[in-house]
Amino acid sequence: MDRYCVFGNPIGHSKSPLIHRLFAEQTGQRLSYEALLAPLDDFATFARAFFAQGKGGNVTVPFKEQAFAMADSLTERARRAGAVNTLQKLADGRLLGDNTDGAGLVRDLTVNAGVALRDRRILLLGAGGAVRGVLEPLLAEQPAMLVLANRTVEKAELLAREFSDLGEIYPSGFDWLEEPVDLIINGTSASLAGELPPIAPSLVRPGHTLCYDMMYASQPTAFCQWALDQGAAQARDGLGMLVEQAAEAFLLWRGVRPQTVPVLAEMRRLLAGG
Ligand code: ATR
Repeated sequence: MDRYCVFGNPIGHSKSPLIHRLFAEQTGQRLSYEALLAPLDDFATFARAFFAQGKGGNVTVPFKEQAFAMADSLTERARRAGAVNTLQKLADGRLLGDNTDGAGLVRDLTVNAGVALRDRRILLLGAGGAVRGVLEPLLAEQPAMLVLANRTVEKAELLAREFSDLGEIYPSGFDWLEEPVDLIINGTSASLAGELPPIAPSLVRPGHTLCYDMMYASQPTAFCQWALDQGAAQARDGLGMLVEQAAEAFLLWRGVRPQTVPVLAEMRRLLAGG
């Protein structure tokens, strides 16, 4: 049976084995998928040992940059992200590094939330690894405007410059912004601490603006709750992105795209403790 895994540290709470098991059952693919605790100081050796037999692996915190460094070749989107969340063993034994996070976000927004991104005014919060990973696929949707706001403005400026050949990004501080936008995506890690990026409520046009948190939790995240309080048309968390990035990896490995809607519904049910 073909072997797949997710590498992380810690890895105990990873939802990837369940998601991929549901995909395999649904598509009738015979495969195994396990969670592997990789050592913090020698990811590359550990991963190479798995790929003596293994066919593919997902990569999560804190190894995405190390996976980027060890891959023998990279997809364009992984090169742009500077991080790899999906490894695939090629027929000649070399490892291909891909990054499906941004495609997962875009698919969750455009297909599951039903919001076209073309010609929309988008505000993206944060300038860390999570944001870098989604910039290329977001710009490919050709929004009317992409503002990148970060606590440390210099980091937003650096990213804007680095991606300038793909489209215009306007770097900003949080408190420089007032005009309503169509979509606000929170790519900061503030929700982890139950905190909110300090942005103006006037950025949300009630009944119109979609707010999206790349984090997820069993309860609405602080950002989703804030969005609902401002009257946002939708407040979505990142569980859909998690399922969609997994589906993109499954497609790469198996050549079959699983249906994500029933899997997302099942994951939501389990997360709520149902
Ligand atoms: P990740 O891989 O999750 O993106 P990261 O690279 O450490 O993690 O980046 C974290 C991001 O969240 C950064 O943009 C950070 O802002 P700074 O660059 O100014 O540090 C942002 N962030 C973290 N906590 C925050 C908070 N409480 N309010 C606003 N932004 C926060």
